[in-house]
Amino acid sequence: MSVSSPVSEPPAVPVAAVSAVVVLAAGEGTRMRSRTPKVLHAAGGRPLLGSVLAAAQAVRPERVVVVVGAGREAVTAYLSQAAPTAEWVVQERQGGTGHAVRTALDTLPELTGTVVVTSGDTPLLQGATLERLVATHASSGASATVLSALLPDATGYGRVLRDETGAVTAIVEQRDATDEQLAVREINSGTYAFDAAALRGALARLSTDNAQGEEYLTDVLAILRADGLPVAAVAADDARDVAGVNDRVQLAEAEAVLRERVLLALMRSGVTVRDPASTWVEGSVRVEPDAVLLPGTRLHGSTTVATGAVVGPDATLVDTTVGEGAHVRNATCEGAEIGPGASVGPYTYLRPGTVLGRGAKAGGFVEMKSAVLGDEAKVPHLSYVGDAEIGEGANIGAATIFANYDGVAKHRSSVGPHARVGSDTVLVAPVSVGAGAYTAAGSVITEDVPAGAMGVARGRQRSVEGWVERRRAGSTSAEAAARARTADPRAADGAAAGTTDEGAPA
Ligand code: UD1
Ligand code: CA
Repeated sequence: MSVSSPVSEPPAVPVAAVSAVVVLAAGEGTRMRSRTPKVLHAAGGRPLLGSVLAAAQAVRPERVVVVVGAGREAVTAYLSQAAPTAEWVVQERQGGTGHAVRTALDTLPELTGTVVVTSGDTPLLQGATLERLVATHASSGASATVLSALLPDATGYGRVLRDETGAVTAIVEQRDATDEQLAVREINSGTYAFDAAALRGALARLSTDNAQGEEYLTDVLAILRADGLPVAAVAADDARDVAGVNDRVQLAEAEAVLRERVLLALMRSGVTVRDPASTWVEGSVRVEPDAVLLPGTRLHGSTTVATGAVVGPDATLVDTTVGEGAHVRNATCEGAEIGPGASVGPYTYLRPGTVLGRGAKAGGFVEMKSAVLGDEAKVPHLSYVGDAEIGEGANIGAATIFANYDGVAKHRSSVGPHARVGSDTVLVAPVSVGAGAYTAAGSVITEDVPAGAMGVARGRQRSVEGWVERRRAGSTSAEAAARARTADPRAADGAAAGTTDEGAPA
């Protein structure tokens, strides 16, 4: 981080204007063996293409053009929703990467200046790397600059060839390379900065005279060199940034890198990640310093975790907000809002529209949906709370069910502040329990309970004296009953087996 100074200074590496970023995404991705287009396979919580488009924003292009082909309906549908400012161009047949770029430039006849070309299958590409590529391209005056990387194992990639002075001369594909060329470890990342006019001229002269019978974009470099134009290469700082995803093994490898990047950034910002190996946090998630993520935590989408909160072990949160100092353990939460100091879990399922107030509790084996739990209100055990408003300080007894569905439509119920719903109550919606009211344990509540009242809706208990010794004679139960009768003759009078009181909640 730079120290602020009163005089505004230009950035260390000025980013030259980029007229367009062209993203190649028309390939079939045969090696994925999938019905889903390769660039729509997800890593780090979003499609590969989405990561590339996000990185492209770093060079502030005037236009972003995606070349689509295989699976174009799905790819363009994704673009309309996730990147509405991106344009797309259809490549009707897979004529190779050179043909793809030619197809894009044909639709941009007026384009001049710098064009960045990259692939939709390189999700690890970082904005800063693109900025450096563009800055180097601008300052060197090259007509083409390829982003390269030094790999211990270059298998599968095109190799960057240099002459005895170190100047870049060409890129040769794996399948077209000699043994000597295959020994080169500097690879082509598939990302380049070009002068638009030079690129256009060279693309018109590509041949298909190669192992794959395709127009190779990579051949542009040798053509420009032959024209006497300088071409350059800039190596990525981290070779992992340029890895392409061609199969599911590489997809999992990309996922691991993206995951590690997010966790490292979180830890450096002051978040405790107890076990990075079992923690998954998508790049879209925000976690404040001094939050703690315990093993088995997975945070997705627009989830946010405030300072002092503890999440995990074993919690999956999707689009969920966790307030300051809240605890969420062994839980699955989707679209939930967990207030400051609230407590969730273990074994709790919070579904969309759940809102827990400050200090509220959704305890073990509790499921909630579209339900608001007021400040300090508690649903501690084994309950279903759907379509409900529960006032502050209310207590919902164990095994309470909000029966919100009559088989046709859903209805809402409410429980007033400081009410006490007895264990095993069924609240048949729509129904309300007033402020400070009680319900008797085991009640099926079908009518509103006024504020301060005790709602009782259940059969009164009766005990049939001596039933076990008469009807289960000879059983161990009958023997135990007989022993109890002998030891305390009053037991036989029913004194110890009376009816219960009007169910005080547990
Ligand atoms: C390409 C490069 C190789 C480089 C590697 C980096 C060429 C000839 N080779 O090889 O030097 O090391 O990327 O990952 O450029 N595509 C189209 N239309 C086509 C063909 C491909 O849009 O007709 C798209 C694909 O969807 C993909 C990208 O271009 O996003 C690269 O194609 P791919 O087949 O993966 O090229 P590689 O063999 O990886
Ligand atoms: Ca590739």
